[in-house]
Amino acid sequence: MRFSPPLPDRSSKVLVSTVALIPAAGRGERLGAGLPKAFVDLAGHSMLHHAVRGVQASGVVDALVLSVPIDLVEQVQSQFPEVIVVAGGAERSDSVRAALAAAPPSDVVLVHDAARALTPPSLFADVVAAVTAGAPAVVPGLPVVDTIKSVDPAGAVTGTVDRVPLRAVQTPQGFDAAMLGAAYAAAIADFTDDAGLVESQGTPVRVIPGDPMAFKITTPWDLRLATWLLHERASA
Ligand code: C5P
Repeated sequence: MRFSPPLPDRSSKVLVSTVALIPAAGRGERLGAGLPKAFVDLAGHSMLHHAVRGVQASGVVDALVLSVPIDLVEQVQSQFPEVIVVAGGAERSDSVRAALAAAPPSDVVLVHDAARALTPPSLFADVVAAVTAGAPAVVPGLPVVDTIKSVDPAGAVTGTVDRVPLRAVQTPQGFDAAMLGAAYAAAIADFTDDAGLVESQGTPVRVIPGDPMAFKITTPWDLRLATWLLHERASA
């Protein structure tokens, strides 16, 4: 764990090796919990709490920046005094951009969804290792197990997609920091993940093996599964 004292000065020019950004400003309507998704209770703590502790337990992150709903900035800052907390934006990419702007200089940037609250600490280390080894952009991914069909608006099947080359992509996604900063500065469209943004600008993206525990908690079903997994872990 390399979180020593809280970062005293956000404009510090001290280069740290790896910064992690956690966008946690989503509304999370599909979860139906009536509060922002990252703040939904998961076995006694918020999803954000689990995500932050996962990053910190990895031991490979020097500084952490959270983007949260504007009205929760103060509360989250007092809960996690050792991290930088900023207000997120309307889209996920706005929230990542805000976190990136507040991050201290680094070699590597990880972007990790708060909603992937049970991500094993080792996956952060795997992604950082792949970026440090020379890949400018690295994403964890899992093979797709379902048969995938394309459909038209009326629900008629228009094709069956070959699933062999497909990967369901997760976070943390890791990037060469200078490349990611330049990609965000040049971005004109919105992307659902950061690899999609850099990929659109011609940067090669490498996939490394993902982990089922890094699943995104999106629906009430996912929340039940995550709660059960945490209770199982606690009683092991
Ligand atoms: O909505 P979705 O599940 O794709 O969100 C992925 C992550 O991005 C979540 O952690 C969510 O809190 C975050 N997000 C954000 N700002 C937004 C929308 C989503 O930080 N405006």
